[in-house]
Amino acid sequence: MVNDPGLTISESAARGTADDCVLVLIGALGDLARRKLYPALYRLAAEGLLSPDFTLVGVDRVADDDASYAKAIGESLATADDTGGSVNPDALDRLTRGARYIKGDLTDPALYRAITATLESITAAGGSANRMFYLAIPPSLFLRVIESLSKSGAAPRTQENEEQQKGPWTRLIIEKPFGRDLASGRTLNTELLARFAEPQLYRIDHYLGKETVQNILAFRFANAIFEPLWDRGSIASVQITAAETVGVETRGSYYEEAGVVRDMFQNHLMQLLATTAMEPPGAMTATAVRDEKVKLLRAVRRFDAVALRESVVLGQYAAGTIKGEHVPAYRDEPAVAPDSTTPTYAALRVFVDNWRWEGVPFYLRSGKRLATRVSEIAIRFRRAPGVLWPRAARRTMDANELVVRIQPDEGITLSFQAKRPGAALSLTPEMELSPVRMRFSYAEDFGGAPGPAYETLLLDAMLGEATLFARSDEVEQAWSIVDPIVAIAGPDHTPEFYPAGSDGPIAANAMLAADGAFWRGLISGLPPGREPAPRQKEPAAR
Ligand code: BG6
Repeated sequence: MVNDPGLTISESAARGTADDCVLVLIGALGDLARRKLYPALYRLAAEGLLSPDFTLVGVDRVADDDASYAKAIGESLATADDTGGSVNPDALDRLTRGARYIKGDLTDPALYRAITATLESITAAGGSANRMFYLAIPPSLFLRVIESLSKSGAAPRTQENEEQQKGPWTRLIIEKPFGRDLASGRTLNTELLARFAEPQLYRIDHYLGKETVQNILAFRFANAIFEPLWDRGSIASVQITAAETVGVETRGSYYEEAGVVRDMFQNHLMQLLATTAMEPPGAMTATAVRDEKVKLLRAVRRFDAVALRESVVLGQYAAGTIKGEHVPAYRDEPAVAPDSTTPTYAALRVFVDNWRWEGVPFYLRSGKRLATRVSEIAIRFRRAPGVLWPRAARRTMDANELVVRIQPDEGITLSFQAKRPGAALSLTPEMELSPVRMRFSYAEDFGGAPGPAYETLLLDAMLGEATLFARSDEVEQAWSIVDPIVAIAGPDHTPEFYPAGSDGPIAANAMLAADGAFWRGLISGLPPGREPAPRQKEPAAR
């Protein structure tokens, strides 16, 4: 496919340099900051997208002073995947010049006085008066930190409508999880909205920052060919997959509390579903896009007792082999209970009860320690009538499928039927049809893989562009969909065990088989869904 050859991803993403601001990173030397946030900020600095008037303020308990903080940032970048280990000293200097570090305990009021004093001193010295707070901290601390930032005056409430606001702005970027369930999600929203206006809040879902996810909107609404087919008349089913090969790694204690439904479904998968299925917004503005997503999430049929039994599969990984290496069972991971029932995999059959989608199943699955790392949305169209073709051809004839590959090998593929070549196979009873593919690849068409999601999202937040962030009602709708699933995934529920390195639990295949459908295979080369992983016995508790 053809694109403007003069346009690179970073150029198309560059809507201008970020507003000047002081970025206060709370949890400055935690895992998220080191692995994702500094690489993203560094890339913005390297691409000239950070304002010259940008100052970083780190808040944590790890470093000793400003110099050791700046050094720790350099060290994080040198080992980060997103920088490939090569760090340009000028860009690093742009990022860390003037960086300040405030050491302290997040439960100590003195820390917030220190933050306020530091911000005031930066402004007094001619630095920016705009304040961006990034809460890269455990959820158990959210409420306390939000309250302290507000009470201390470090993060003042600004006007409801930022566009009408004259003075400096204050914004908060909040990491997931936004609560543990609907009730706590609501409490968090209530507490936030008691202190800040909604336009000040940027609830981050890094999936929305992925180029390929943003491209779903471009694909759907900037092309005339597909949208007329985007409904129950032409589409038989939709499959949304976020499969990972990694296990829980060092996050056992967080994951024990979260499980896959809170960790992936409440946020990333619900966002993918909403983006794929929403109606066209009235305009490409944060309000219009988020209004449509909320409408869509509202139309998602809630899980009742029957649906919980028939349309939900929960699994947990047992020991197995990934890329030739033996990996332990979830129950043997550090900080995981030996008899844990936490699901590391879930598959759902979801219906959207609106005019466009009535009766079309959306199959959603996500899991850790699966055969391959792949996130994709597969739109399966209805089969063409086979009546014209000989019996052999009908057997090999498949439905059209449009696959939006979110990662890796980012791109879009459309499969359709072609006649297998060969004179002996010309229009005779032996003639065969075979699926072939048309492919758009980011790497080939745009000359490189898309930039990391956090880069887009940090720039957007600094520009006051909230479209790619979750609004309070979106978060609550997503919770209300997954809440019943979270409720059954407790200690009384035994997940099905699947071997690490497989396609997931067998019950997930059976759920689709009941509809005459199958999952797209995760292990390349195997016919999709036709080779279920061997059932694994429940591992004995340690
Ligand atoms: C995070 C989850 O939000 O997303 C992780 O907490 C998960 O458990 C990660 O591994 C997956 O993100 P990505 O971008 O690697 O698909």
